Amino acid sequence: MFIVFEGIDRSGKTTQLELTKRYLETCRNCSVVEWSFPNRNSITGQICDRYLRREIDLDAHTIHLLFSANRWERQQELSQLLAEGNVVLCSRYSYSGIAYSKANGLPYDWLKSIDKGLIEPDLIVYLDIDPVIASRRDCYGQERYDKIDFQNKVRINYLDLFKNDPRVLMLDATQSIDKLQQEIRAKIAC
Ligand code: TMP
Repeated sequence: MFIVFEGIDRSGKTTQLELTKRYLETCRNCSVVEWSFPNRNSITGQICDRYLRREIDLDAHTIHLLFSANRWERQQELSQLLAEGNVVLCSRYSYSGIAYSKANGLPYDWLKSIDKGLIEPDLIVYLDIDPVIASRRDCYGQERYDKIDFQNKVRINYLDLFKNDPRVLMLDATQSIDKLQQEIRAKIAC
């Protein structure tokens, strides 16, 4: 099973991913692998990291291609992990690519075409939150995209992207950590 967690910055993805991992390992006896994109350790990821930390500037198409390459370069490994029976929990995937780069002014059809053929997740947990509320959470404002007007555009793009997708579990991320985790567990259990 391949589960992706999506949402704007500080929506709670990492917290829910880690609680889900613990639940699957201890209560469901699963072998769980935790991933996140961008993978900042690879060469493409190092450039994405420098871009996000505002050390370098890149044209919107170029940085999008690097984020996408950062996903493509791990497809074989992902395919193997899934074939071996692991559950892969992943913070951000191609949906972040579309939602953020569209907010940067790039056209949807082009964005969609670049990631076409990537392994599709079985479930997408989308944590929806008003960017103003998210901005009050710890560690907000450290990277390039941590601006409320930009995050508002990203949120609109996510909602548009996910509105008719049956694989999406859409959650109100202002709920308590426990309540959100209960909803995720209920979905995984069925
Ligand atoms: P994070 O490591 O805290 O999740 O932040 C990653 C940032 O990179 C976040 O602002 C979203 C952005 N991003 C893109 O713009 N495009 C992408 O394809 C991905 C995966 C992330």
